[in-house]
Amino acid sequence: MASSKLVLAAIFSASLCFTAALAFPDHHDQGAYPVGQSPKPVLSPDYYKATCPQADEIVVSILKKAIAKEQRIAASLLRLLFHDCFVQGCDASVLLDDSEEFISEKKAIPNKNSIRGFEVIDEIKAALEEACPHTVSCADTIALAARGSTVLSGGPYWELPLGRKDSKAAYMKLANKNLPPPNATLHRLVKFFERQGLDKVDLVALSGSHTIGMARCVSFKQRLYNQHRDNQPDRTLEKTLYHTLASVCPPGGGGDSNLRPLDLATASRFDNAYYKLLVEGRGLLNSDEVLWTGGDPEIAGLVRSYAESEPLFFEHYVSSITKMGNITPLTDHDGEIRKNCRVVNKNAV
Ligand code: HEM
Repeated sequence: MASSKLVLAAIFSASLCFTAALAFPDHHDQGAYPVGQSPKPVLSPDYYKATCPQADEIVVSILKKAIAKEQRIAASLLRLLFHDCFVQGCDASVLLDDSEEFISEKKAIPNKNSIRGFEVIDEIKAALEEACPHTVSCADTIALAARGSTVLSGGPYWELPLGRKDSKAAYMKLANKNLPPPNATLHRLVKFFERQGLDKVDLVALSGSHTIGMARCVSFKQRLYNQHRDNQPDRTLEKTLYHTLASVCPPGGGGDSNLRPLDLATASRFDNAYYKLLVEGRGLLNSDEVLWTGGDPEIAGLVRSYAESEPLFFEHYVSSITKMGNITPLTDHDGEIRKNCRVVNKNAV
């Protein structure tokens, strides 16, 4: 009798728990996370807690070696996340090489001869496969590498929702359409970000990624010689910087691949110097400088605020990069976990 009462009590309390779980689902226990614009919020910082708890450690240890060898690689890896997420979501489509089915995004205009870091991603992915076979996606590998690179450059840490799957295709045409060019007007930059569900704060904060890394002359030469199709330099470009840049990037075709730091004050340190330079007319790309000079008071106000307060910049950056990292991820059976980030798995349809 006593034991049947116990069984009944157990059934009752189990059913209560079940009902309560339906009414108040615990997002973290279910691996769910209320993120970005995703209609299916299923990413979680704890996604690999049971299956590959050492994933981040592996990523960071390889990053440390790669950055010690070449400081700029941190910037290149951070940029990979942006170029992945803005093209059909954060699905590692940017990593795929050409195949019979599609042309690689690496051949899109914003990426060609510019995007880099693939060998480091290969090395990280190989180490992850060895430690935890068929577990960590290439899309999450990019996201982990971007966060690690930011932190190792002196930037902020953010809690990173994980669980993205990898695409089975690349979208070269979409990369040409969705990735903003460096000579875009402020109005167009805002539109590019809006298309991804990102707002003006996200635009200004994420542009702060240009606190590290380099750009080729071809990306900013128009500002030196023909800003408004009038054979004149950009009037907003500070004079000393103009002369330095002109000496590195001569008129005509020569020197188009020569490099200049995006943040000439602290090129390899993730800090708020980028914004301080903008208010002095010393931003490198047109898309950088128009944040200050483009005539939008809200955007210019944000530039000033970040120039004055690094903690505010970091706070907004963390929120915006989390949003960007959650743009339409593939989840569950929508995608796969590629074994080699450069090719779709053999059995994929
Ligand atoms: C606002 C619109 C943006 C435009 C127009 C833009 C454009 C560019 C261009 C033209 C370059 C130099 C490429 C070259 O000359 O080879 C560059 C570099 C870079 N971009 Fe952006 N970018 C934008 C936003 C972002 C965002 C949102 C991120 C990251 C979240 C980012 C991260 C970087 C980094 C880190 C580099 C340096 C890469 C390296 O040194 O390899 N950019 N960007």
